[in-house]
Amino acid sequence: MPISLINTEHLDAIYEIDLKTNPSPWSFENLKSSIEVGHQGLVSIKDTKVIGFAMYSAIPPECHILNIAIDTKYQGTGEGALLLKRVIKQSKAMKIKTIYLEVRISNHKAINFYESFGFARDAIRDKYYPGNPREDALLMSISI
Ligand SMILES: CC(C)(COP(=O)(O)OP(=O)(O)OC[C@H]1O[C@@H](n2cnc3c(N)ncnc32)[C@H](O)[C@@H]1OP(=O)(O)O)[C@@H](O)C(=O)NCCC(=O)NCCS
Repeated sequence: MPISLINTEHLDAIYEIDLKTNPSPWSFENLKSSIEVGHQGLVSIKDTKVIGFAMYSAIPPECHILNIAIDTKYQGTGEGALLLKRVIKQSKAMKIKTIYLEVRISNHKAINFYESFGFARDAIRDKYYPGNPREDALLMSISI
């Protein structure tokens, strides 16, 4: 699938995907300001429709993956891997040395996804995610 840089025209579609896939979704305003403050992002496009996105903050030598999600209908078809590969490629071009992220400790699918790329489990951040009860985050990173 074509992958392109995020722009504000993609916001509605990204917002909808995040609502469906994220237990604590971003508000539309937070998404919009994330792009406006200069966070980087990529979208996967299929037949002119946005079916996935990755948002990250790359400030060499580090890149922080803020969110990555594929529309439920397309999960498990290799789209997430294509996006993450591109994030890594872009990061290398920006002289990033380390990519890190947080993931819900119960999100085995995403943890497996990151491990399949060689991300390591670094630490637990207690009660990082909102909710009742709050949920711990697993911190993961990869040297590239
Ligand atoms: C996590 C996510 C981005 C992965 O994208 P995807 O397109 O579904 O995954 P892919 O089809 O590209 O699979 C890549 C690898 O991820 C792992 N994976 C994918 N689906 C999996 C599942 N159901 N169970 C376990 N591992 C899985 C596998 O290692 C897979 O490699 P393989 O196909 O060679 O076995 C996607 O499932 C998603 O959007 N989930 C909801 C949002 C989310 O949790 N985001 C992460 C926030 S930190």
